[in-house]
Amino acid sequence: MVDGDRLWRRLSELAEIGKRESGGVTRLSFTDEERSAKDLVASYMEEGGLAVREDAVGNLFGRREGSDPDAPAVLVGSHVDSVYDGGNFDGPLGVLAGIEVVQAMEEGGVRTDHPVEVVAFTDEEGARFSFGMIGSRALAGHLSPGDLDHRDGDDISISEAMRDYGLDPKRVEAARRQQDSLAAYLELHIEQGRVLEAEGLPVGIVTGIAGPVWLRFSLRGESGHAGATPMNRRHDALAAAAQIVGVVEEEASSAPSAVGTVGQLETRPGGINIIPGLVDFSVDLRDIDVSVRDRVEGRIRERAEEICARRGVELGVEELQRLDPAPCSEEVRSVISEACEEVGIRPHSLPSGAGHDGMHLASLCPMGMIFVRSKGGISHNPEEWSTREDCEAGCNVLYWSVLGLAGQG
Ligand code: GLV
Ligand code: MN
Ligand code: MN
Repeated sequence: MVDGDRLWRRLSELAEIGKRESGGVTRLSFTDEERSAKDLVASYMEEGGLAVREDAVGNLFGRREGSDPDAPAVLVGSHVDSVYDGGNFDGPLGVLAGIEVVQAMEEGGVRTDHPVEVVAFTDEEGARFSFGMIGSRALAGHLSPGDLDHRDGDDISISEAMRDYGLDPKRVEAARRQQDSLAAYLELHIEQGRVLEAEGLPVGIVTGIAGPVWLRFSLRGESGHAGATPMNRRHDALAAAAQIVGVVEEEASSAPSAVGTVGQLETRPGGINIIPGLVDFSVDLRDIDVSVRDRVEGRIRERAEEICARRGVELGVEELQRLDPAPCSEEVRSVISEACEEVGIRPHSLPSGAGHDGMHLASLCPMGMIFVRSKGGISHNPEEWSTREDCEAGCNVLYWSVLGLAGQG
């Protein structure tokens, strides 16, 4: 079946691109690092006998024809961009495993009815523009022209970054795939949680993906002299923000499966002896049940308004992205379950707390995901780790799942 050593070697080679001193990687979208990563992946696709192309948003595809030329393709893949100082498995494993599966079929003389395409999506993480899944949104027709106005920390918009990268932002519509033009979408990914470790299993079947909402809170108080302004005369934007950060933690903790995170916070003017007048911070809220997430969000917004009103601080809340949870297809789940049996792994189902491109693909075709055990559940961290054996096991489950979905021709 698949060649676990080749998969592992390619993972290690890809990890060299955008490598940090920490051992992790930073590969943001539309940068030289992402370009180099996609070029390396394209060379692996060619080695695997795939026909390589890139679409209007930079999604990279490698295609192997099936015996039925009119059949819709089974799409397999993930992403090669990363968060800041991220790990080496989040994304690359799914892309490289997809190539490995098709290369193993090619080498083994295994034909499929449906074509199989492997994809490396553009900007899944949203690290650069606080707006993610650009490639899969475009594929599903979910990327609106206004979305390209999101800006990075250097005030460069997605449109500008695309132009610098050699893409025409006016052509994003050309990346769209038609409804039912794909037979299925399948992604192998590390779990990024601890369920499989606790179960003693290398691989799991994803039931659905929790829906994230990303918000930007902007607080405008009054900057002033840290020595000369009495405590009862202050409108300290950071003191208000600190209380709201506590509220995010409290409200998310009050619902069993909800999670809430403040990952970015900027204070201005930023002097040691100046009361902060302006604070911007992000909020990331998720739950597998959208009504729970929205209730938590409502409580946070309500309490933030009370805190700011009491402190004489102006509050603005901007929505950066909002995605509904996405259940995985029953049909794809059962194909994965049979693939697990084939490989000798007890099928075990679990939800995904992290977001994935499949959330957008689900509106085009049946969508499913396979998880590989993560060490200690650590992810978005240079310490992210899955063993060579677990990656190979996941890749074998992917092999049998692709065969199940694409049909042995
Ligand atoms: C990406 O990994 C996300 O879930 O934000
Ligand atoms: Mn990922
Ligand atoms: Mn990620």
